[in-house]
Amino acid sequence: MSAILVVGGAGYIGSSTARFLNKKGFDVVVLDNFSKGHPESVPENAVLVEGDLGNRELVGSLCSEHRIQTALHFAAFTEVGESVAKPEQYFDNNSFKTKNLLDGLVDADVNQFIFSSTAAVYGEPVEIPINEGHHRSPTNPYGWSKLFVEEILASYRNAYGLRSVCLRYFNAAGAEEGHGEDHKPEAHLIPLVLQVALRKRDSISIFGTDWDTPDGTCVRDYIHVSDLAMAHFQAMELLESGSAGGIFNLGNGEGYSVREVIEASREISGHPIPAEETDRRPGDPARLIASNKKAKEVLGWTPSRPGLHEIIQTAWEWHRTHPEGYPRQ
Ligand SMILES: NC(=O)c1ccc[n+]([C@@H]2O[C@H](COP(=O)([O-])OP(=O)(O)OC[C@H]3O[C@@H](n4cnc5c(N)ncnc54)[C@H](O)[C@@H]3O)[C@@H](O)[C@H]2O)c1
Repeated sequence: MSAILVVGGAGYIGSSTARFLNKKGFDVVVLDNFSKGHPESVPENAVLVEGDLGNRELVGSLCSEHRIQTALHFAAFTEVGESVAKPEQYFDNNSFKTKNLLDGLVDADVNQFIFSSTAAVYGEPVEIPINEGHHRSPTNPYGWSKLFVEEILASYRNAYGLRSVCLRYFNAAGAEEGHGEDHKPEAHLIPLVLQVALRKRDSISIFGTDWDTPDGTCVRDYIHVSDLAMAHFQAMELLESGSAGGIFNLGNGEGYSVREVIEASREISGHPIPAEETDRRPGDPARLIASNKKAKEVLGWTPSRPGLHEIIQTAWEWHRTHPEGYPRQ
């Protein structure tokens, strides 16, 4: 059997998908440069290659050696604020190096590709829930760096027959047994809130309480990391069926406010989790909620852990038992 290449498979979502595929019986080859990832998160029987996604020769030879037909690409820099301060790093790592990766895949005749895109390609939404036809107008270099790749993929499909699925994730969250989120620095709301419960920070900031939402705080769509893994498997099946691929939102279709996240985290952790109300952050949309209709209809995907409590419960289990995350190298 040919193996699956998982680029960025030592990161939060990539490793979850690598473990999922491994359990399904696939041979998995992980390529990661460990700039952000953790070797301990990679399944033990996966082939783990330390290297850069921008290394076209390495990618080509890995694919030939392991008879790769499908590549899943999770590797990227992911912090919106950092992308505003250092855009060159984001265009380099997320866009230009991905073009090299794709060239390496084409060199080796790989013809199926799944890309981790993001809700950030939409920018400020004009319609909620957001469907895949919504206009795309990123408000930061991170979003643009991902949108460029979507465009490259459309051209490579036509020119080289590289069929691809772009999965636009909303807010990935939650954890699995023994594995979870470990970003340094951490920028995601749920782990930050839980850090207060672990006494690693004094309080959580709420950026704006006067948004046009039911409780005045921003609303986001949280999707469990295991449900993202499942969607990748279903996207692989779609490509295996000969489909040209497509673009799909991955979210629950439900929004939860910052206050709701904090309140649920208080109940789950038993910690009062002090919150500090501050000004709005420029560029934050009030609400980001996915329409997941297309993923349900075409991929047959149904989120299995849609509830905020369950998502936070699994995250709390991981952070409580691994307060420092994965062991440092
Ligand atoms: N976390 C979210 O909520 C979210 C939401 C939308 C989209 N995404 C996208 O999903 C993907 C995975 O996100 P994550 O949260 O798991 O991130 P992560 O930082 O945990 O994982 C990224 C992995 O890619 C590796 N990597 C980065 N640059 C590399 C390079 N040049 N060569 C080889 N490896 C490299 C890192 O070492 C890390 O293991 C990203 O592409 C991100 O843009 C994430």
